[in-house]
Amino acid sequence: MPGERAGLRVTPLRFIRFATVCCFVLVFAAGIFATAAWQPAIAPINPPLATSFAPDVVKRGAELAAIGDCAVCHTAPAGRIFAGGRAIATPFGTIYSTNITPDAETGIGTWSEAAFQRALRNGVARDGSYLYPAFPYDHFTLVSDDDDKALYAFLMTRTPVQAPALTNDLPFPLKVRPVLYGWNLLFLRRGPYRADPAHDEAWNRGAYLVDGLGHCGDCHTPRNLFGAEQRDRRFAGGAAEGWTAYALDAASPAPVPWTAEALTQYLGRGFAAQHGVPRGPMADIASDLRSVPADDIRAIAIYVAAQMGSHGPERTQIAQQVVTQNARGTLVVGNSADSQADTFHLAAPDGEGALIYLGACAGCHQGPRAMPYGGIDLSLSSTVSAPSADNFINVVLYGLPAAEAAHAPIMPGFANAMNDSQVAALARYVRAHFTDQAPWSGIEKNVTATRSAARAATVDHGPPSGLPGTSQRTTHEAQR
Ligand code: HEC
Ligand code: HEC
Ligand code: HEC
Repeated sequence: MPGERAGLRVTPLRFIRFATVCCFVLVFAAGIFATAAWQPAIAPINPPLATSFAPDVVKRGAELAAIGDCAVCHTAPAGRIFAGGRAIATPFGTIYSTNITPDAETGIGTWSEAAFQRALRNGVARDGSYLYPAFPYDHFTLVSDDDDKALYAFLMTRTPVQAPALTNDLPFPLKVRPVLYGWNLLFLRRGPYRADPAHDEAWNRGAYLVDGLGHCGDCHTPRNLFGAEQRDRRFAGGAAEGWTAYALDAASPAPVPWTAEALTQYLGRGFAAQHGVPRGPMADIASDLRSVPADDIRAIAIYVAAQMGSHGPERTQIAQQVVTQNARGTLVVGNSADSQADTFHLAAPDGEGALIYLGACAGCHQGPRAMPYGGIDLSLSSTVSAPSADNFINVVLYGLPAAEAAHAPIMPGFANAMNDSQVAALARYVRAHFTDQAPWSGIEKNVTATRSAARAATVDHGPPSGLPGTSQRTTHEAQR
């Protein structure tokens, strides 16, 4: 109808009116957002005297800081402890940890206990600015008032270090901190932890530590597009610094199912006979856990074992087979069994991989060799059974460092001894021979990518961050 068409015609006056209304709505919305997102600064205090904190509270704070890995993230490679500056790579850009020593100018020396607790519980700094969730406050929010107090006492009694914050490398609009108000609205479930009466005390203690300070889901839970952990896929497996953090739920790739006993060994002592040792980012976590009271480790282990659930008869039977085979393997190794072992391996479908395994690996991994050089039988290894080859490639290329602790495992890296196609052939053989899982796909590309990522990390920020620990770094440097 002509009349209606005329009604839709945009006259200059109408356009101006429309634009005005739009502007008004936008300004109004921005106003509401700014008001809602605004957080007050908490007044600075004079740095408290170290003597104002009770020694037993400080000691407890030290144990809690170890469970929370504060030092791991807040210490730069070769930097002063807690002085920050460690680069944390996220899919959105690089975020640098900050100085949490009690330095008044560049650290948290002027933070009151209330300011400190607000940071841990709500992700807001003393000055009222939002903190990025690369700082796992979405877990630390569960920490109790008493534990926050102890952590505060511990940090406020450290040596102050002058170290200004580094500038994060984030694109617009992520560099505008108030956008995190929206993130918190969507993904932050505020604490503190509330006990679940359906479970006993140890389970609840474990849940409190694992989901709170221990922030295990930070690496072991997959993330969504906004970088938040997917609540419905808790512990389904995630990624950390070029490593796979295995599933800790029913999908755990461990050939022999984990028990609370084995987890206690692995987390508290850094070795479990049927599982091996923690490596990569998990090595840092476990080395921190070594100073944590046994009861807490045990509670963590009980809770994690409960997440994996009980396994069916089929799984138990497979595990039993693995253990029996393993025991037999250990027994027959010796001079007389060598020729037998050779025939067995050479008959495998992938001849090149089998030869490499025999020449370079079997000496340590098949036989009664003790730590530090004796590795577990690879049929027991989550690394070999896992859906992704990432960790296998990392271990084979870069090995395990000689650590200071007695009986720490040592495995050489083979980055210089093997080319990409040899590592791939070895991976194919090991996967086929020691597991009943489907072959890893794209293995050769993965090896090449792992090597170039390690090289790039060396150029940008020193040694690859996925290969932590000072001694390990030295080893890798020497290899290149
Ligand atoms: C996974 C790495 C990670 C761990 C573990 C971690 N932090 Fe942080 N933390 C960060 C990052 C990154 C920032 C900086 C965030 C930002 O700039 O928005 C930060 C910021 C902070 C801040 C705010 C400081 C400031 O100057 O604004 C405090 C306080 C803090 N962390 C305390 C702790 C404590 C206490 C622990 C141990 C219980 C801990 N952090 C463990 C990564 C971590
Ligand atoms: C910074 C990332 C990160 C955090 C935080 C983390 N893990 Fe891990 N975890 C890993 C990685 C990576 C691996 C695989 C390491 C390897 O191949 O040795 C792993 C391996 C494990 C394994 C061995 C699983 C298997 O089948 O072999 C267990 C158990 C485990 N983590 C438990 C925990 C617990 C409990 C916590 C919290 C207290 C935790 N992790 C926190 C990264 C992390
Ligand atoms: C000098 C002895 C030594 C040699 C040679 C060696 N390893 Fe290891 N390896 C170890 C030790 C020790 C560990 C740590 C204990 C463990 O986890 O098995 C280890 C760990 C591993 C793991 C992790 C197992 C787990 O816990 O899930 C894999 C996979 C592995 N080695 C593969 C290989 C392959 C493949 C080769 C040959 C290219 C090889 N190793 C050569 C000693 C050795």
